[in-house]
Amino acid sequence: MPGRLEGKVAIVTGAASGIGAATARLMAREGAWVLMTDVQDAAGEALAREIGKAAKFVHHDVAEEADWKAVMQVATQDLGGLDILVNNAGVLVYGTIESSTVADFRRAHAVMVEGTFLGCHHALREMRKGGGGSIINLSSIAAQLGQAHLLPYSAAKGAVRSLTKSVAVHCQMHKYNIRCNSVHPGPIHTAMFEDVKIASQKHLLPEFQKGSPVGRANPEEVANMILYLASDESKFVNGAEMVIDNAMSVQ
Ligand SMILES: NC(=O)c1ccc[n+]([C@@H]2O[C@H](COP(=O)([O-])OP(=O)(O)OC[C@H]3O[C@@H](n4cnc5c(N)ncnc54)[C@H](O)[C@@H]3O)[C@@H](O)[C@H]2O)c1
Repeated sequence: MPGRLEGKVAIVTGAASGIGAATARLMAREGAWVLMTDVQDAAGEALAREIGKAAKFVHHDVAEEADWKAVMQVATQDLGGLDILVNNAGVLVYGTIESSTVADFRRAHAVMVEGTFLGCHHALREMRKGGGGSIINLSSIAAQLGQAHLLPYSAAKGAVRSLTKSVAVHCQMHKYNIRCNSVHPGPIHTAMFEDVKIASQKHLLPEFQKGSPVGRANPEEVANMILYLASDESKFVNGAEMVIDNAMSVQ
């Protein structure tokens, strides 16, 4: 039986760990050619080797436009085009409106907002050439909530949410056959969540001191949602925000 992404070419950023790694594994299993990118070269290369010939790893800092151009070149020249982009790379930057520095704010925005902007900007050109595509941007329920001690992160994830809708409407208006959706996880069991636990022990994130009231999911559960959005099964889903949080954001 053909896979749900048979023959499609996908770029997954931040693919060396957590949700990006689970997504790369799942997409390869469903028949895609996966270009995995990250700043963690050793972990990214090891995972690409483990996945096998369907995966290739390239060093990529998503905040650098020159890196995006190089990654797009690998996708088009070595893999023949681009059908799917998952803007997943992220960094947890905590602090309140009083304790955060401009450097904190800029770091969160450089990776998650500028990184996502650059990804969408460069992917659109390649996807238009190929007649369509699907872009999935990792936001967070931090975009919906008011998390006092995660101001730089929350502001960046809010920007990813609205950037996604703007791209979706633009593509729909121009009939590009390119969809753009955001995914909003709650607490997911990854390295980032471990960082939250450590920060809460140091009283940097008092909101999390009692742990998560809704439990937490595994990265594979988020990868399943990303797979759905990447596949043709979701061809009428565009500009949507897919929340995976066991009702945490609606209480
Ligand atoms: N874990 C959670 O609870 C949770 C909740 C909501 C949203 N998210 C989002 O999901 C995405 C994946 O996070 P995760 O939980 O898998 O965390 P993770 O820390 O396991 O993975 C993030 C990856 O991004 C990479 N990265 C960081 N800066 C980069 C850069 N400049 N260029 C390229 N790669 C870079 C890291 O090296 C790492 O491999 C992030 O965007 C995160 O904000 C996570």
